Amino acid sequence: MISTPRITTALPGPRAAALIARDRRVVSSSYTRSYPLVMARGWGSMVEDVDGNVFLDCAAGIAVNSTGHSHPLVVQAIVDQAHKFLHMSGTDFYYEPQVRLAEMLERITPMSGDVRTFFGNSGTEAIEASIKLARYATGRQNIIAFFGGFHGRTLGSLSLTASKAVQRRGFGPLMPGVYHAFYPDRYRPPLGSTAESCADACIDYIEHQLFTQLVSPDEVAAIVVEPIQGEGGYIVAPEAFLQRLRELTRKHGILLVVDEVQSGMGRSGRMFAIEHTGVEPDVVATAKGIASGMPLGVAMARADIMTWPPGAHASTFGGNPVSCAAAIATIELLQDQLIANATSVGAHLIDGLRAVAEKHPLVGDVRGRGLMIGVELVRDRVTKERATKERDAVVNAAFQRGLLVLGAGKNAVRFSPPLVLTREQADEAVGIFDEALNEVERSV
Ligand SMILES: Cc1ncc(COP(=O)(O)O)c(C=O)c1O
Repeated sequence: MISTPRITTALPGPRAAALIARDRRVVSSSYTRSYPLVMARGWGSMVEDVDGNVFLDCAAGIAVNSTGHSHPLVVQAIVDQAHKFLHMSGTDFYYEPQVRLAEMLERITPMSGDVRTFFGNSGTEAIEASIKLARYATGRQNIIAFFGGFHGRTLGSLSLTASKAVQRRGFGPLMPGVYHAFYPDRYRPPLGSTAESCADACIDYIEHQLFTQLVSPDEVAAIVVEPIQGEGGYIVAPEAFLQRLRELTRKHGILLVVDEVQSGMGRSGRMFAIEHTGVEPDVVATAKGIASGMPLGVAMARADIMTWPPGAHASTFGGNPVSCAAAIATIELLQDQLIANATSVGAHLIDGLRAVAEKHPLVGDVRGRGLMIGVELVRDRVTKERATKERDAVVNAAFQRGLLVLGAGKNAVRFSPPLVLTREQADEAVGIFDEALNEVERSV
């Protein structure tokens, strides 16, 4: 089991090319494949393709394989549960893995007091549940989300998503009663603010413009926010912003829903990224890393909020016992050492990327927490013109050298590796990224 990349064919290799040709004919054309990776198997932070090429994975299936590919303890938990039973719909019957996982989630969720969990299969379902719960619990209809936010692609969550127009184009009319506010991006401060004042400016906009000109706060059910915007470009909100958002929502009886689908489950160096701020939300939605790759999405809420009656909301597959077993094993691994690893290797990786950034004018900003790191590429450090084509070229050049990364936002590269990444692998990733930047800078 090697732990460094090894590329032995042109990419895509012959087997990969053949499979991609078959895929093109029968699989939905809506998928965004950045480069032609055809996976055969994976271990830890490594991925092997069907032609025997080995890659270092800093994408983790879009921030999902938190414990690495096929961690033996997660696989064991899945196999053990699969031998017992695969499904019995936890919405209509009872089984231990679902209850045990809900008890664990109550302990790890950054909300004091009793917590209840709704089980779905994906991030978007966790958000749909949060939206419905917020409307039901408050008796109010409107929701505030943020520009740059990504919350999923089903019609409710899509109505909150304001990341790329192509994700919404052709699907209207979307859910009414959704308002978008500005996200405090310190690198690109909105509303004429500065890096220091953007948190206040973004809150002031909600309080003094949205609430006075567009929607009365007593008709707002929830504000839904990512503590670190994921698809938007790995943008870390200032702590003061989330703290002021909490004050504002509390003042008006609005629920604060944190979307931790991408930032949750240890990736930021805390179980949930909101913990970096000391803010206690009312609802936490998470998915992706929760079950190491098995489908699971959860909405956790204060028990006094989640009081909807039987039949109000449910999903046949939600809380599938095999996914629950995988989640229990995942959380144990996260608590044992992987969250700590995300903190220490994440700090090492960000230092390495910042050192590389000094050599490359294409890099405008390196930011993140734990192993959730974004590198924003610009054509000019002063004008901050977005280097979108160059970003795509860097992602592809990294792939050609055996490093898997993904884009985020219009012009950032995201590093979201499995949380088992070692310091040596982080160094390897930095080295390849450096070469990829060299190649693209030479060509422009
Ligand atoms: C913050 C956030 N919320 C929600 C979602 C939707 O999750 P899913 O693709 O599992 O539906 C995503 C997916 O990228 C996400 O990053």
